[in-house]
Amino acid sequence: MRHLLDTKSLTKTDALRILDVAEDMADTQQREMKKLPTLRGRTVVNLFFEDSTRTRISFEAAAKRLSADVINFSAKGSSVSKGESLQDTAQTLQAMGADAVVIRHGASGAPRTLATSGWITAGVVNAGDGTHEHPTQALLDAYTIRKRRYAGDSRGRDLFGVHVTIVGDILHSRVARSNVWLLSTLGASVTLVAPPTLIPQDVSLWPARVEYDLDEAIAAGPDALMMLRIQLERMNAAYFPTEREYSRRWGLDAGRLRALRGDSIVMHPGPMNRGLEISAEAADSPRSTVLEQVTNGVSVRMAALYLLLAGAERDTDSTDATRKGDAR
Ligand code: CP
Repeated sequence: MRHLLDTKSLTKTDALRILDVAEDMADTQQREMKKLPTLRGRTVVNLFFEDSTRTRISFEAAAKRLSADVINFSAKGSSVSKGESLQDTAQTLQAMGADAVVIRHGASGAPRTLATSGWITAGVVNAGDGTHEHPTQALLDAYTIRKRRYAGDSRGRDLFGVHVTIVGDILHSRVARSNVWLLSTLGASVTLVAPPTLIPQDVSLWPARVEYDLDEAIAAGPDALMMLRIQLERMNAAYFPTEREYSRRWGLDAGRLRALRGDSIVMHPGPMNRGLEISAEAADSPRSTVLEQVTNGVSVRMAALYLLLAGAERDTDSTDATRKGDAR
């Protein structure tokens, strides 16, 4: 794998490979000594032009657990504020020896530009670009669903027969886009639920059904209900009358949580707007996988970095890195 830019172009074989390697990585994290020497001598740069808690920290944890050197770059406080371009910023970091660049950027397509422009030779991982994609989020979501569905070893398994309902601000959500493509590639069926104003115009081209009534969608008994954050920072118009009205019609409250099928899980990529798209009862319930998703994110990002930086050399078996007494 040279870059990880989206899930739309990810084949089922590649997606399952990442999820399976993530399981190997998760196994190593049960050991007392969690650190692997796999990426010793490699440098991973986290290049974040937008705010992040989970993604930035888990990429840093993932790289460090693989023994890579990590450089964290945040646009805030950098020479970007003096007008330095993406090209010059990236080339500066490459000159410091970056082998992989993990980039979050407000502009859809920025990671692809970085990967294809010839400015740098490092592998590029998209950590969220504008409203386009957030592939490692979708991979950790699929990983979480698969682990819950196949309680033991889920290696090699797809998501055929799984029904995932994604609720909320679909229009602005790169998480929704990445999930729709990945989940459908893995065989799951996807339903989107939102006010008509928060459904993208091109949704008919997506492999997903669209509904507008959350209670009907819950009555259909999805295996996973994924609540999305209302992205107020990307809204330049009124997409719903009031937050109270949004919450009443499309929020997951205690009543809707009770109506959800007994074994359905409640997901949210975070950060959550508690009381808006999800109530505290739902977010903190035993059916919520919110923190499990965060934990799984480290394993999935370890897998992505491993396949990007070591996978080509050791294309056969990630357990090379995880079984031979390598843990430090
Ligand atoms: N889910 C997610 O991308 O969270 P952060 O914005 O905190 O990275």
